[in-house]
Amino acid sequence: MKKEENSRRRFLVTATSVIGAIGLGAVSWPFIDSWNPSQRARVAGAAVTVDFSKIEPGRQITVAWRQQPVWVLRRTPEMLERMEKTEHLQRLRDPDSSVTTQQPDYAQNVTRSLHPEHLVVIGVCTHLGCIPHFRPELAPKDLGADWMGGYYCPCHGSRFDFSGRVFKSVPAPTNLVIPPHRYLSEAVIEIGVDDEQAG
Ligand code: FES
Repeated sequence: MKKEENSRRRFLVTATSVIGAIGLGAVSWPFIDSWNPSQRARVAGAAVTVDFSKIEPGRQITVAWRQQPVWVLRRTPEMLERMEKTEHLQRLRDPDSSVTTQQPDYAQNVTRSLHPEHLVVIGVCTHLGCIPHFRPELAPKDLGADWMGGYYCPCHGSRFDFSGRVFKSVPAPTNLVIPPHRYLSEAVIEIGVDDEQAG
């Protein structure tokens, strides 16, 4: 419980920097916000709806669900290819998402999603709850020649790939958490509820 409160506090404190860090998200937040339930409903955990067709390939937006940032990334074929490389898989701590607390059953696969192109993941580091940065570029100077794109946590250096899978030898112990979600149509998803819960 205490850990959850700390995470929420960090999110509130860092929300501004998150929006700034993700670029497109800074533009999209007010737009996405207008589709969604009231502030009171969001705090209570109401589901959030997102339309993937409004997100450019290779970009992501951030929405709030249960006072946490949720990243919605539209992956390109190139991003998916990078994640399949053997040398990449060998560097991951849990490439098969075997820790079952980190995702629903239907996301326990290579892309940790219902659709390979679409990632929905809670943007809170599994080490101490900081907000990682979206770093899609290949081998930037500050992250090194073997960086294939993904998420980098500036607090203590944890690294995650485009599926939110954690790398070996970093402080974060597990993959990022995939929230429950389901498709309402081919491109529209609902975050916070899945078909099982909806009955
Ligand atoms: S909180 Fe992310 S590495 Fe420590």
